[in-house]
Amino acid sequence: MNEKLIVANWKSNGSRSANENWCRELKAHLAAQADRTLCVCPPFPYLDQLRSYNLAIQLGAQDISAYPPGAHTGEVNAAMLRDMGCQYALIGHSERRGLLNESAELLGKKLAQAIGAELKPIFCVGESHTQYQAGQTNSIIKQQLEPIIKVKSQNFIIAYEPVWAIGTGLAATPEYANSVHSFIKKTLGGATQVLYGGSINAQNAHSFLACAHIAGLLVGGASLDAKSILSIYQS
Ligand code: PGA
Repeated sequence: MNEKLIVANWKSNGSRSANENWCRELKAHLAAQADRTLCVCPPFPYLDQLRSYNLAIQLGAQDISAYPPGAHTGEVNAAMLRDMGCQYALIGHSERRGLLNESAELLGKKLAQAIGAELKPIFCVGESHTQYQAGQTNSIIKQQLEPIIKVKSQNFIIAYEPVWAIGTGLAATPEYANSVHSFIKKTLGGATQVLYGGSINAQNAHSFLACAHIAGLLVGGASLDAKSILSIYQS
């Protein structure tokens, strides 16, 4: 069976009423498939709202605290995410690396927290447009993978998201993504699951999912529209 994981990353979007419409649409039309998993990562305050609909989805967090419970104001820790029903946590999304300067050391701590709580990390990597043009993709990715190489667990997923493809409407070609995925798998061990993310939509999802080294998709903008994510799930 060719299993694929589709991850919906809502980023900092949503409202109680918009989420309600989205959930109702999924409740009515999501027909669970044995070879597909849909994981939804809403903003933290909406995790419980999503859970209340008992959809055939799994829940993920968009980030995780690098610290255990305690005096860390504003942090959402791994135990809380488990408590809210999360099974996955995005770590190192390029928006956080870029906007918040998340370092390799910090990402290593987040990975340790996730793994310690049995949350599956979805560790994001990807080169900038300048690095892409300079042919530095593989060396940049190898560098970004360092925190995951140090982790004493095989229970993680990698998401390859070229920064130049995120939210731009300019997805990588499936062939290019497939070759980078093959490099990541060679670097980490052949069994690693690698997702592609960056301007995935209902029209192009199928051509990515057809690639041998693409184990699934990380979908941002298109996941906010229930019909689009349903169509991507069924691709
Ligand atoms: P996009 O975002 O699908 O809107 O390009 C993907 C992501 O950032 O995870």
